[in-house]
Amino acid sequence: MSHADFTQMWRDLAPVGRSASSGGYFRQPFTSAEREVAAWFLEQCRSRDLEITADEYGNVVAWWRPEGASGPGVLTGSHLDSVLDGGAYDGPLGVVSALAAVDVLRDRGGTPGRPLGIGVFVEEEGSRFGLACLGSRLLTGTTPVEQARELRDRDGVFFLDAVAAADLPSDATPLRWEDLRQVDCFVELHVEQGRDLVDRDAAVGVASSIWPHGRYRFDFGGDANHAGTTRMEDRHDPMLTYAGTALAANEAARLAGQRATFGRVDVHPNGTNAVPSRVTAWLDARADSEEHLAALVAEVERSAVDRAAREGTSAAVTAESVSPEVVFDPGLARRIAAPAAGTGRAGWPVIPTMAGHDAGILSGAGVPTAMLFVRNPTGVSHSPAEHAAEVDCLAGVNALAETLERLTRT
Ligand code: GLV
Ligand code: MN
Ligand code: MN
Repeated sequence: MSHADFTQMWRDLAPVGRSASSGGYFRQPFTSAEREVAAWFLEQCRSRDLEITADEYGNVVAWWRPEGASGPGVLTGSHLDSVLDGGAYDGPLGVVSALAAVDVLRDRGGTPGRPLGIGVFVEEEGSRFGLACLGSRLLTGTTPVEQARELRDRDGVFFLDAVAAADLPSDATPLRWEDLRQVDCFVELHVEQGRDLVDRDAAVGVASSIWPHGRYRFDFGGDANHAGTTRMEDRHDPMLTYAGTALAANEAARLAGQRATFGRVDVHPNGTNAVPSRVTAWLDARADSEEHLAALVAEVERSAVDRAAREGTSAAVTAESVSPEVVFDPGLARRIAAPAAGTGRAGWPVIPTMAGHDAGILSGAGVPTAMLFVRNPTGVSHSPAEHAAEVDCLAGVNALAETLERLTRT
């Protein structure tokens, strides 16, 4: 790989789905922006003569099978979709780095002893259909298609209808989990979504685990009424119950050293001069253990129900998805993080993350899995301000190439 390869690929993607006002990305699954980056990926794979396999949901794995490569393959890759108004790096950095790492290995002239696959999984963020890692969940059977059938976006479009309307690669070999589950391991490179590597003065790190986390829908009900003529003491205002619950969630998480966020709210009828009849809000909760997560959510739920009883409103909580703790294969993490013999390279730090990833789903499905993180100077993520320095991105490409080189050696 030359410097220009990574830079050029990064430049290709930069304008796609970028908001002119915020500079952030809107690459929701099966929208035109996301399909454009998906098509770009296929084009990159075809230009490298990779064999494209795809499933019926839009997940793609492109294989490099050089002559002599045999046995279970090694898989890398990530996702190309973004959160609403997201950063450029979360997802695409892992995909572009995978393509660049293949170029590095080819330029070196060595041939891997095992096939090498680059995967792109759809709807990793759950930004359109609400369930994070939906593509990898469906591929692995972690989520049955019956459940996906019920999922709709904010406009009421069903997931499967959005998939059917999308232009999926028609010439691809079918991608089936029965075949893919045989892979030797999966390594996902990702921008770090915190400042651990900054504090450790390291450009690259290796993941140890993912915190358990979940998404919980809070439905608050009340009585619609006139904003001017309804006396304050006569109101049953679900917005107040929601607001009190959001403050309580923040306090509970702070006191417990965990995370609780209400980042999405839907208000009905959403009029300035009316007390709302309904507020639906989504809690994203994360904790350092499954017990602590359950306790945190129970406390927020108790607070919502108690407030509703006092305020003459109603509160009901539905767990939409709960992801257990993921502990990545410790032996694989150690092997990847170890100093590279003969190069003088120091070992890479092994750090936990509080963010969810397709790597967690594949790990849960029994595939030995690891993650590489690339330093993020501010730690900001899920925001237009998300960033990684180019020099660190290139260090990430080299780290991934070195890792894949080691793992595909037979
Ligand atoms: C995915 O990025 C998540 O952790 O929400
Ligand atoms: Mn993300
Ligand atoms: Mn991601």
